[in-house]
Amino acid sequence: MPLKDQVLAYLVGRHGEPVSGQAMAAKLGVSRTAVWKAVKSLREDGCVIEGGTNRGYSLSQAGDILSAEAVRSALPEELRNIFSVVYLPKTDSTNNEAKRRLAAPDGPEIIGAGGLFIFTDCQTAGRGRLGRSFASPVGGLYMTYVFNTSSPLAKAVSITSAAAVAVAESLEDVGISDAGIKWVNDVYIDGRKVCGILTEAVTGLDSGENRSIIVGIGINCSGSLPGELSDIAAGIGNVDRNALAAGIMSRLYRYSSEIDDRTWMAGYRRRSLMPGRDIWYFGRSGEKISARALYIDDSGALVVRRDDTGEEVILSTGEVSVRIK
Ligand code: BTN
Repeated sequence: MPLKDQVLAYLVGRHGEPVSGQAMAAKLGVSRTAVWKAVKSLREDGCVIEGGTNRGYSLSQAGDILSAEAVRSALPEELRNIFSVVYLPKTDSTNNEAKRRLAAPDGPEIIGAGGLFIFTDCQTAGRGRLGRSFASPVGGLYMTYVFNTSSPLAKAVSITSAAAVAVAESLEDVGISDAGIKWVNDVYIDGRKVCGILTEAVTGLDSGENRSIIVGIGINCSGSLPGELSDIAAGIGNVDRNALAAGIMSRLYRYSSEIDDRTWMAGYRRRSLMPGRDIWYFGRSGEKISARALYIDDSGALVVRRDDTGEEVILSTGEVSVRIK
């Protein structure tokens, strides 16, 4: 690993506690000058490192630079070596990148014991649900988690709701509370969307059972959003994106291993913005249906009562678009 990355990983692991250039040099087995040069180069990349050789260095929480090493360092010790982690400064879409990697001859092996995480600062062709595009300006956190499962597909894709809970919980870890979930999987703060999730499945050719699930998560941070989005979407502000990514990774890993029990549903219900709200959705033939959202059932489906017929309808996590009135 280049010294620059080692210095960054070391500083991230100190969680803002200063460390002297000398101590860091001794720890990494290099000279103080080499540490100083690495810090200078990190600062040139935009990383906010406080202090100097005599005062000790510390990483400012505002100055986060995404990197595989920084994310690993922010993970709990026991999870540091179980994931394959890929950081790309820029890509078309991390979900596309995941599919390309899965299609490679060594695809299944690259996933690793705990799954594969791909994340990036910026996407040029971010994809959303229902074939929409997803604006992905620089400075956001765009990540995809790939894991293998033999769970039935319907259960496996319920990881989407787990991902929404993982994001809301991890936002709390970095100081952002009150994140709510708009069914199915959008995370909202103060009435505006800050995160969208797109889950896709790839079924093995030789067996209909083993499949890879691709969970794409896009979080708007400080990056500016295109005009038409700024009314409905917002950034979460400057946060430590490495810590945020690590929190989401740990939780997604845990939830994906608990998929049959859907252990996250209580957390999902607690954060759900839908029950009791008047909504509308599009029916199968495209008609607009007005309804009252009642509750989220055990499978993660939204149960609603139609205003016109009084009938209870279960909206499963399929291709349904729901709007709060
Ligand atoms: C939505 O709100 O409709 C879902 C948006 C999902 C966006 C994420 S960003 C990371 C991953 N890569 C993509 O192209 N899409 C998902």
